[in-house]
Amino acid sequence: MTDQRPVDKATAKPHLPDAQTVTSVQHWTDRLFSFRVTRPQSLRFRSGEFVMIGLMGDNGKPLLRAYSIASPNWDEELEFYSIKVPDGPLTSRLQHIQIGDEIILRPKPVGTLVHDALLPGKHIWFLATGTGLAPFASLMRDPETYEKYDQVIMMHTCRDVAELEYGRKLVEDLKNDELIGEMVEGKLLYFPTTTREESPNMGRITDNLSSGKVFADLGLEPMSPERDRAMVCGSLDFNLDVKKVLEGFGLREGANSDPKEYVVEKAFVG
Ligand code: A2P
Repeated sequence: MTDQRPVDKATAKPHLPDAQTVTSVQHWTDRLFSFRVTRPQSLRFRSGEFVMIGLMGDNGKPLLRAYSIASPNWDEELEFYSIKVPDGPLTSRLQHIQIGDEIILRPKPVGTLVHDALLPGKHIWFLATGTGLAPFASLMRDPETYEKYDQVIMMHTCRDVAELEYGRKLVEDLKNDELIGEMVEGKLLYFPTTTREESPNMGRITDNLSSGKVFADLGLEPMSPERDRAMVCGSLDFNLDVKKVLEGFGLREGANSDPKEYVVEKAFVG
C-alpha cells in the first residue's frame, strides 16, 4: 500500500498527522529535558492545561502521552518539560529529538489547574514535585496570575539541586523580563527545596507546610480558606499527602464545573 501522507519537499519524509516542528531542546540533567515546538495557529489554551503529544510508534500508530504545556498562552511556540525514563515507551525516544524533527500534537487542551477552577482569593500557592512544575511554568508566566492574586508562592521540591535548575532559571528570567518583570517582582515568592542533596533550603512540601516553616520563612500567615488558593501537581503519593495538609487548613478541592479553594493534577510520566 502506498503512503498517502503529504510529503515534505525538502526532506522527502512524509508529514506526521498533527505534526509540529521542534525549535529547541535543552537537557537539564540526565533525567530531565525541555523542548519547544511550533504552535498550531488554531490552538487556544488556558495556562495550566495539558495536551497529548508523542511520536509515531514502530507499529505505525501514534504513541501519545499527556504533557502539561509549560509555556504561557501568549507564547508563539509551545514548551514542554519532560522526564527521561530509560525504558519508557515514549520518553526513551523523545529524549533524542533534535531541532527540525517533528512530533505529534493533538490540539485538544484540557485540565484542572486553571484559574477558572478556583474561587477568587488573595494568595495562590503552586505546589509541585519534579516535572509537576510544568503547568506552573505556564501559569507563572501568565500576567493573569498576577492580576488575580496579590501573592504567588511557588514551592518546588526535588531530590537534588540540579533538578531544580529549570524552575530556578525560569523564575530568574521572569523577574528580569522587560514586559512582565515589574508585575512579578514582589508578588512571586519562590520556595525551592531539596530532600536528598544538601542545599540551603530543604524538606518536603508537606512537612514545610505542616510545620509552618514556609510561612515563617516567607513572612506569611498560615493558609486560610478565605485568603489562600492552591494548585497541586506531582506524583500520586505527593498529591494525596498534600491534599490532606490543604484540607487541614480548611481548603476544599474544586473543579472546572465547581470552583473551590484548591485543585490537583497528576504529573504525567511517559
Ligand atoms: P523524598 O526524597 O523525601 O522522597 P521523586 O523523585 O520520587 O518523584 O520525588 C520528587 C520529590 O517529591 C522528592 O523530593 C520527594 O521527597 C518528594 N516526595 C515524594 N513523595 C512525597 C510525598 N508523598 N509527600 C511529599 N513529598 C514527596
